[in-house]
Amino acid sequence: MTTGPLSTPPSEARNRPENPWWVDAVIYQVYPRSFADADGDGMGDLAGVMQQLPYLEQLGVDAIWLSPFYVSPQRDGGYDVADYRDVDPLFGTLEDAEALLEAAHGAGLRVIVDLVPNHTSSAHPWFTEALAADPATEAGRAARDRYMFRPGQGPGGAQPPNNWQSTFGGPAWTRTVDPHGTPGDWYLHLFDSSQPDLNWDNPGVRDEFEDILRFWLDRGVDGFRVDVAHGLVKAEGLPDHGIRPGMITDSGEDVSGHAEENPGDHAHPVPYHDQEGVHAVYRDWNQVLAEYSHEPVMVAEAWVSPLERLFRYVRPGEMHQAFNFTFLLAGWDAVRLSDAITVSLEEAGKVGAPNTWVLSNHDTVRHASRFGLSDPTRYPNGLGAEDEQPDEALGWRRARAAAMIELGLPGSAYLYQGDELGLPEHTTLDDSLRQDPTFVRTAGAEKGRDGCRVPMPWHAEAPGFGFTLGTDEGYDAGPAAGTATAPWLPQPESFGAYAADRQVDVEGSTFELYRELLGVRGELDLGTGAFAWSGLHSPELGVLAFTVTTGGGQHGHDLDSGERVPEQVVLVLANLGETAVDVPEDDAAAIFSHHEALQDGQLMPDSAAWFLKR
Ligand code: NOJ
Repeated sequence: MTTGPLSTPPSEARNRPENPWWVDAVIYQVYPRSFADADGDGMGDLAGVMQQLPYLEQLGVDAIWLSPFYVSPQRDGGYDVADYRDVDPLFGTLEDAEALLEAAHGAGLRVIVDLVPNHTSSAHPWFTEALAADPATEAGRAARDRYMFRPGQGPGGAQPPNNWQSTFGGPAWTRTVDPHGTPGDWYLHLFDSSQPDLNWDNPGVRDEFEDILRFWLDRGVDGFRVDVAHGLVKAEGLPDHGIRPGMITDSGEDVSGHAEENPGDHAHPVPYHDQEGVHAVYRDWNQVLAEYSHEPVMVAEAWVSPLERLFRYVRPGEMHQAFNFTFLLAGWDAVRLSDAITVSLEEAGKVGAPNTWVLSNHDTVRHASRFGLSDPTRYPNGLGAEDEQPDEALGWRRARAAAMIELGLPGSAYLYQGDELGLPEHTTLDDSLRQDPTFVRTAGAEKGRDGCRVPMPWHAEAPGFGFTLGTDEGYDAGPAAGTATAPWLPQPESFGAYAADRQVDVEGSTFELYRELLGVRGELDLGTGAFAWSGLHSPELGVLAFTVTTGGGQHGHDLDSGERVPEQVVLVLANLGETAVDVPEDDAAAIFSHHEALQDGQLMPDSAAWFLKR
């Protein structure tokens, strides 16, 4: 079955019909393993996502992005794809994916899927063929040319071809054994050894991915989140680079052991990040997407800095969006956030692209926990019981205020599942349960990303907080009476207080705050508004203040009535400092980040507010 694309804009309030839907869309990231488990096997699935569409509708987002659900050995949570055109039985079937698309479209939600082009799984038929093939034959060479096989260095080729490090820790090369049993060439894997890098100089690889794009576009998907968009092309000659790249950050840790002798290493552009050649790939893909009339979007996951380089991915004719990780990495710090916002808006303006704000995803410690650390700009790769434990109440307040900054900014915003519940990280997960390859590859030095991937709490009183439903009655029917398998990762006890059933329709809850913000944002078209720092903006004192002006102007006409939409100005005021700040004294209607944010006419530290200027 093939479902049609969504034809009507989800937001009726949108008053600029010439804009594609994604320009100001709020997109909700679903990590399928951990969102909702309909069949009760302890692992989330597509049927679970389908059952929770009413929840997402209630929240008021425009679209969902599904992290990979493809056939995969799950060595990296599905970012190790063995078949790009089918669904892993863990998550359901291709028919389930099609049914989900249709149901989501019926509910006014668009659907973006994940595309993983930098590497396949080592279980992908191309890679098994490459390993089995005799490299001395023409056919063997052709099979291997789809990947990055190279002879080793030194006597007997026993040393890797260069000193590149895997992002997950350890060398980025693994040696193969030839079909006759002798040690052979090495293959490159920027991530786990089960994720061999593809060779993007090979035309067959390019054709294959264009075909994969069409496969999903024909089924009506509304776009692609492109994994490691900065990594596909490697520098000619694969020059040494002894720095282990960080996740999301463009900086890394020096593991070369020879920084003193080679200080130049640090200044090296990373030979496997942000190479010029990647742009041609996205220009080609842009053309493929342009064959479809439902405005599919391409969003880059690109660990690229400075922002000027990042925005090259969203030049006309390339990608449409790129996650703004500079904003994410700014942490809870007014000066850093102010700079990130200023530069992002400037750079976006130069290429005519919208911004794409994000605070958390499946690779980061949840911001509700990061912001509760003694240094709220810290960006650790996971937290464990022996690490500093975040101040949960402080992180909760700051996370709510941060949502008001993120959702007040013009452009598009990406929410990670659980953001809307104010969900913290699981910071005391038992090491024996960790599945992130980083944990193993760094010999436990980095806890990795499991703590942000813990299954969602739906029902406070149910086993596994209602994540494992084990009935097809749907989540609305309440927790299952029967016994379902425990969730694939255990949730911390504190999750009960955050469960969806404790928040939906509960005044003052984080869910209701998000719902209200999304409602006002949609109604006033904040996402396409004009930004200006306000006179109250004072980042050195911890105060962020900006206005967004919407309506009016050249395009400000209501879609239905054709009438002019009056200009409206929203003031976003956030207090990241240590002292309370005066709020404007006019009669503006306001939303506050939590019920104690306003005291004696002042906005308290770690709070934010939206004022509608009259
Ligand atoms: C980025 C993804 O977000 C992350 O989860 C994954 O491990 C790496 N890319 C490798 O695919």
